[in-house]
Amino acid sequence: MTAENYAFIRLLVQAFDDLGLGEVEFLPGSVTRDGLHRFFRILAVHRGSFDGLLSRMDEEGVGGIFVRPCLQVPGGNIRDRAKKLYFQTLILIKRYFEGEKSASLVKIKAVAAYLADLLRRSEETLIGLTVIKNYDDYTYNHCLNVAILSLGLALRLGMSKKLLVSLGTGALVHDIGKVRIPAEIINKPGILTEDEWKVVKRHPVEGLAFLLRRWGISRETARMFPAVLEHHLGMSFSGYPEFMRRKAPGFLARIIHIADFYDAVTTPRVYNKSPFSPVEAMEFLMDHSGDRFDPVLVKAFVQMMGLYPVGTVVRLSTGEWAMVVEKPSEAVPLDRPVVAVVADDRGVPLRPRRLDLSEEPVEVVGVSDQSPWEIGLDPTRVTLTLSE
Ligand SMILES: [Fe+2]
Repeated sequence: MTAENYAFIRLLVQAFDDLGLGEVEFLPGSVTRDGLHRFFRILAVHRGSFDGLLSRMDEEGVGGIFVRPCLQVPGGNIRDRAKKLYFQTLILIKRYFEGEKSASLVKIKAVAAYLADLLRRSEETLIGLTVIKNYDDYTYNHCLNVAILSLGLALRLGMSKKLLVSLGTGALVHDIGKVRIPAEIINKPGILTEDEWKVVKRHPVEGLAFLLRRWGISRETARMFPAVLEHHLGMSFSGYPEFMRRKAPGFLARIIHIADFYDAVTTPRVYNKSPFSPVEAMEFLMDHSGDRFDPVLVKAFVQMMGLYPVGTVVRLSTGEWAMVVEKPSEAVPLDRPVVAVVADDRGVPLRPRRLDLSEEPVEVVGVSDQSPWEIGLDPTRVTLTLSE
C-alpha cells in the first residue's frame, strides 16, 4: 500500500464498517468512469443505513455496481438472519407492488443477490422458510417463496452470479401483473367465468408492460423480462400467454414455472382450502415432467426438496406427529430432517417443539398424504413459534 492510496483504503474500510457493507461487485462492461466517481462520492459522504445507501445509488443512477450487506450480523445465527431477510423482503415486495418509489430495482436486485448468498451458505434454512404463507396477502409471500425456490434450483445447476441476480429479481416481481386484476376476481371463492379467466391470464403481459415502463430496456432487464412473460407458458405450450408462433419458454421462465407451481398448489386459497401436500405436489411435478415441466429441472427440484419436503406431515417412531421444517443438510442422511413435533401419539396438539432427527434416536415411520391445513395445522405459525 502506498501513502497516496492509504486514505482511499481507509475510506472504504470505514464505509464497509459504518454501512454494514459486505460486498461490492462491479459488472464488467456496465460500469462507467462517471458511475464509479458517483459511487465513491456517495460512499465518502453517506452516513446512514445500508438501505439508505441503496436509495442514494438509485437516485444518482449508479448502474452496474451491486452492493450487498454484511452477513455477519453480531449475535445473530443464520436462521435469525434468514428470517429477518424474509420479512424485510416481504415489505419491499409489497412496497414495490404498491408503486412506492423507494422500492427500486437496485434494492430488489440487492435482495436477490443476498438471498442467493444465504442459500449458498444454508440452503436448508432458506427453503425451510418457504412454508411461510399468507392467506390474505398471498401474492407477496408467493413471489418471495418462488424466488427462494428458483434461486435454490439455479444454484444447484451452477448458474452464474449475473444470471442468478436476473432470475431472483424476475422471480421476486413475476406476478406484478396481478395488481391489475380486480380483487373480486383474485379473491373469488368459486370457479371463474371464461371472461374472468381471460383477465387472469393477462397478468404475465400486464406484468411485462409494467416493468418495461418502470425499468426500461437494458442488458439486465432483457434477461429477466422473458421470465416474467413466460412463467405460465409450460413446455407443452398448454399454458399462457398464447404467442403467434410456438416458442419454447426460456430457461429462467422454466425454473420459475416449477417453483411457481409448487408454491401455488401447496398454499390454501380462497377457492381451495385443501391444497396439495408437499408430497402430492412433487408427485404431480414428476407425473408431468417432460410435457408441462422441464424434465432436467424437475429432477434437480426433487433432489433439492429432498425425501420429505418441508411442510410434510410425518409420524415419528415415538408415535408423535410432526411437520418437517428443515431438510437435512448435506452431511446428514436424507431421511433425517429437522421436524416440529406438533401432536402426541393420540393426536393431542402440543406446543411445536424443534427436533433434529440427525441428533436424536427417533425416526420417521410414516408420511401423511394430507397437507398441514387439512389437519388444522398452520405451517407459518409452527415455523415462527418453534421452541428449540
Ligand atoms: Fe403468475
